[in-house]
Order: sequence, then C-alpha cells, then structure tokens
Amino acid sequence: MHKKNYAMNGNKTKIGIVGCGNISDIYFNNFCNLFNNVEIKSCADIVMERAQTKAMNYGIYAVTVAELMADPEIEIIVNLTVPQAHYEVSMNAIKAGKNVYSEKPIALTRKEGKALLSMARKKHVMIGNAPDTFMGAGIQTCVKLINDGAIGDPIAATAFMMNHGHEHWHPNAEFYYKFGGGPMFDMGPYYLTALIALLGPVKRITGATKISFTERIYCGDNEKKGQKIKVDIPTHVAGIMDFKNGVVGTIITSFDVWSHHLPSIEIYGTNGSLQVPNPNEFGGTVSLFKSNDEGWRNVPLTHAYEQNSRGIGVADMAKALTDKYAIRASGEMAYHVLDLMHAFHDASDKNRHIEIQSTCKRPKPM
Ligand SMILES: NC(=O)c1ccc[n+]([C@@H]2O[C@H](COP(=O)([O-])OP(=O)(O)OC[C@H]3O[C@@H](n4cnc5c(N)ncnc54)[C@H](O)[C@@H]3O)[C@@H](O)[C@H]2O)c1
Repeated sequence: MHKKNYAMNGNKTKIGIVGCGNISDIYFNNFCNLFNNVEIKSCADIVMERAQTKAMNYGIYAVTVAELMADPEIEIIVNLTVPQAHYEVSMNAIKAGKNVYSEKPIALTRKEGKALLSMARKKHVMIGNAPDTFMGAGIQTCVKLINDGAIGDPIAATAFMMNHGHEHWHPNAEFYYKFGGGPMFDMGPYYLTALIALLGPVKRITGATKISFTERIYCGDNEKKGQKIKVDIPTHVAGIMDFKNGVVGTIITSFDVWSHHLPSIEIYGTNGSLQVPNPNEFGGTVSLFKSNDEGWRNVPLTHAYEQNSRGIGVADMAKALTDKYAIRASGEMAYHVLDLMHAFHDASDKNRHIEIQSTCKRPKPM
C-alpha cells in the first residue's frame, strides 16, 4: 500500500535541496508526488548545471547554495551532498536558522556530529538524518512483531551487508574508498538504524577491520572503466555489539565479498526467530519461526510505505514542526550510529572493546 498522505495539515512546508547527484531524483520525485505536506521551492549544487537540470525537470528554481540558505521561505534544507560535505552544508544550514535533514552519515567525525547537535539545540532547529528506510512497511512490521512478543525476549541479532563495492556502476565511486566511505559508513547506517529501531541503543562494541584490495578499478559498464581508485579506508568490517537491553549483535559490512548466502538481518528470541527484510529498502519479506511451529512462515506486512519512500523522514520532520513531537529519523539516533561506526574501527585499531558514550531513544513506531 502506498499512501500519498504522510501528514495532513493543509500547509506545505517549503524545502530546499542541496546536492543534485545520483540519489537526488528519488527525493525530488517523492517530494513532488508522494508526500503532500512538503513542497520543494529550489535546489542547489556546487556544479550549477546539475541544479539547473533538476530545476527544469521538476519545475522549481536553481539557485546557489548561499541563496538557498538565505531564502526566508525555506524551512527545511535537505542535504544530499557527498558524505565529505555533510558537516559543512548542514552546519551552514543550521546557522542560517534552518531545520536540516541530511543523507547518511550525519558527519564524518564524532566532533563534527556533536557540533551539529549542539548548534541545532542552540538555534532551536530540528536535525534529522537518513536512513529513513526503518519507517517503511518491512521494518515497521518487524518492530510490531517484536513489541507484541512474537519471538519472546530478544537474545541475539545478526546483520550482514557484503558486496564487491560500487565501481562497477556509480559514476563517481571515489568517495566510497575515502575517509567517511567504506562499507560501514556507507551501508552500516541502514543496518545499525534498523537494529536500533528494533532493539534500542548499543552500550559496548568490539570489531576487526581490514583492507583486502589497496586499489579499485572502475569496471562493468562504467564510463570511467579502467581508471583506478586508491583505497584509503577498511573495506571489510566485522563487529560485535552489546545492546543496552542485553541482546548480543553480530555485524559484517564488506566491499570485499563477491557473493554470499547470509540474510540481511535476523533477530533471535526466547520463543522464536525473525527474519527482517533488507534495511536499504522499505518493503520486503518478513519471516517468522515460532518454537511451536513446523518451520518458517512469511508474515503479511502490517504497515504502509512498501515502495521506495526516501524522504519520509523529511515529511515526518515537516509534520513534527507543526504537531510538535520528536522526529523518528532523529539527529540523536544518527549521532549514535556514527559513534558505533567509529567504535568498530577504534576497537580494531586499539585492540580492545569500546564503551559507547552516546545513546538515543528507540524511535516511536509508525
Ligand atoms: N547513490 C545512491 O544510491 C545512494 C543511496 C542512498 C544514499 N546515498 C547517499 O546520498 C549522498 C549523495 O550520494 P550520491 O550518490 O547522490 O552522490 P553524487 O556524487 O552523485 O551527488 C552528490 C552531489 O552533491 C554535490 N555537492 C558536493 N559537495 C557539495 C557542496 N559542498 N555544496 C553543494 N553541492 C555539493 C555534487 O556536486 C553532486 O552533484 C551520499 O551521502 C550517499 O551516501 C546515495
């Protein structure tokens, strides 16, 4: 089921988009066609032609980043730039008094992440962050099953995201192999955010990381086929998480694996097991095994937003601006995710467990 109305308060919140690259079209489309409480006014990119192309396609204005930040009509700035620019763009938006919603990760370093949260508090604006896939039908169905006790008390969890990187398809794949990229910073946010939505925050982490290939070569149908990318960051990251509720989680994120048979996420409880769909998608198949059942069975999805509803976190923020509630895809949760992603790497570098300093609330179910 694909609902057009995320929120129904007559007035549309005006938003501006910074960063008109690969992922931006799904946001442009959903803000124009799926969520009726937001309206894109203008867009910007450091490469002006990219903003002009999107402006033409979606019937909005192309402006400079500075003009977009200075526009008094715009209430939310959606930051779809590369991870290396997230901090600067979000900080400038917050300083301009705007609410900001950024693609993942919230920032590259813990220092930057903390600075964003504290500046947002100081300026009394909201800060939200991707991913918002956990608000989709698949993971929300799993949240409900866990909350309803379908598998009893959760005991353990596993999460696996393994592939061979992005140089075979992404036109600008360099950022995936630089600080702030890598499989954990690129894909970890989907898996960690889903696990937090399902189980709550994490208190302790350990991990092991490695670089299996020191350079990558553009391949497949990529226009840059044959060009080399130097790898600066670990591309295989394995970790163990102690959740505050006592669950022990295992995660592997990798750009070094050609193929595998492991599930995206599974949660194991005192009375059964739950297979959670791919957290990079909104729908998917939910499977349940109960201790008194013969085998696994698929469970019908109980919630809306099965299709790619990227931007639902922004629609939630727009609704929260008028209805005054705590947004689900919050900056606090994104900072906790950032803290965890660094902790896997720190644990490997320092040869020890890392006690997690940050925390967040489990987001309210849809
Ligand atoms: N491509 C995907 O499938 C995908 C999926 C989910 C999330 N994301 C995330 O979305 C973000 C963008 O990814 P992408 O694939 O669209 O990258 P991209 O390189 O295709 O696009 C990023 C755009 O941001 C612009 N930009 C960079 N720095 C800027 C700045 N300081 N000010 C204004 N514009 C700036 C670039 O010119 C470019 O047009 C990343 O954080 C990525 O992790 C991407």
